[in-house]
Amino acid sequence: ELGNYPHYMLKEIYEQPVAVQRTYSGRIGPTHKSANLLDIKITLPPQLNSIVFLACGTSYYASQIGKYIIERETHIPVRCEYASEFLTSARLFNRQDLVIAISQSGETADTREALLIAKRKGIEVAGLVNVVGSQIARIAGQGMYLHCGAEIGVASTKAFACQVAALIIFMLYLKKHLSSIRVSGDITPAHTPLLEPSPSFPSPQPNQPSSSRLFDPPVTKDVNGQPLEESIVRVCSALRDLPVLMQHVLSNTTTMSTIDEIVAFMKDRKSAIFLGRGIGYPVALEGALKMKEISYIHAEGYPAGEVKHGPIALIDEDMPVFFIVSASDSVVLTKIVNNMEEISTRGGKIITVTDCEPTNSDEKVQAQLKRVRSISAYTISVPCSDLCCSPILFTIPLQLIAYRIAVEKGINPDRPRNLAKSVTVE
Ligand code: M6R
Repeated sequence: ELGNYPHYMLKEIYEQPVAVQRTYSGRIGPTHKSANLLDIKITLPPQLNSIVFLACGTSYYASQIGKYIIERETHIPVRCEYASEFLTSARLFNRQDLVIAISQSGETADTREALLIAKRKGIEVAGLVNVVGSQIARIAGQGMYLHCGAEIGVASTKAFACQVAALIIFMLYLKKHLSSIRVSGDITPAHTPLLEPSPSFPSPQPNQPSSSRLFDPPVTKDVNGQPLEESIVRVCSALRDLPVLMQHVLSNTTTMSTIDEIVAFMKDRKSAIFLGRGIGYPVALEGALKMKEISYIHAEGYPAGEVKHGPIALIDEDMPVFFIVSASDSVVLTKIVNNMEEISTRGGKIITVTDCEPTNSDEKVQAQLKRVRSISAYTISVPCSDLCCSPILFTIPLQLIAYRIAVEKGINPDRPRNLAKSVTVE
């Protein structure tokens, strides 16, 4: 089954383009541009307060990416809850929420128990699960299978990519139903650009009872002011192009030789910090988890802007700092480059994964790219994609770095110590 691969983890990293294709096939067609989401049946509460994701480990980080994508594209509020903590937060949710468990194995005890708590409260539940017929899939009773194939290595790699792809598809599902969903709460209409006030949006009337909600007008445009149907086409074609871009990362010789250098630099280190902003933040968390789990190097994932509030004290010339820098998020780009400079001036060794491309014609992005490259000791560039697909591309080099360090250190990456593929105890 391993074929020519020395480990399942490596095999599964390389299977990711095909796995992602399997997740979207039948849902996003090869010829038609729009989404055909007929196999997805997730009942949405008639008045939707929020979507709540329940998950653990890597699945939790995928849920954080889902939160970012769904909130950005639909303005529906999303909460990510560690399944093991849901016992204490469950009281905050009711029948106006939709609870979705995310799990590769479908057997994780914490996620199963959290889902049962939600179900007992009468909340509408669903699952994003890989293993067909698993406990979580059966308890959820509705949702989406990832169809990414069996994952044997303890580290979640292709399941993570497929979870993000499935969450993008779920976001499309929500977009398709936006005109019929009533989203509770005083939220900004989806067509208002982020960071700008919404003068046209009506204020709550003083005589409204405090419990009454202000409903959005029917949503016809997305956050960029793009008509909904067009934005669905944009995301569908980005998803369809994604496997080719993933393959490009996996076969890029420049990327591989930079990874060689990073592995040589990292393998005797005791610690590392992973930083990102916006959609790059959960990618940083996932990169740090892979580093801990597989390479046994202590690693912290942090929002880049938070570092100056404490962790910056850890920075000296011995501290490797990984940055996830997304060029497609212009607001975040300038700020994260400032954060990189804060680290660089304190001697931190910066390793950057970015989708800034030397060919990008935007002058401002070019200027930032120059700064990024001059500050970084090592830079890995992945191809540009739609922002919602970019976490999948950013994660591939981080998986490979963790894998390669493990092998250099003589660790079996498929069976890291103290870990099991499914955690069936609470
Ligand atoms: O099967 P699940 O997705 O529910 O598993 C959740 C976590 O145990 C899992 O993602 C774990 O964190 C991985 N070993 C990370 O690589």
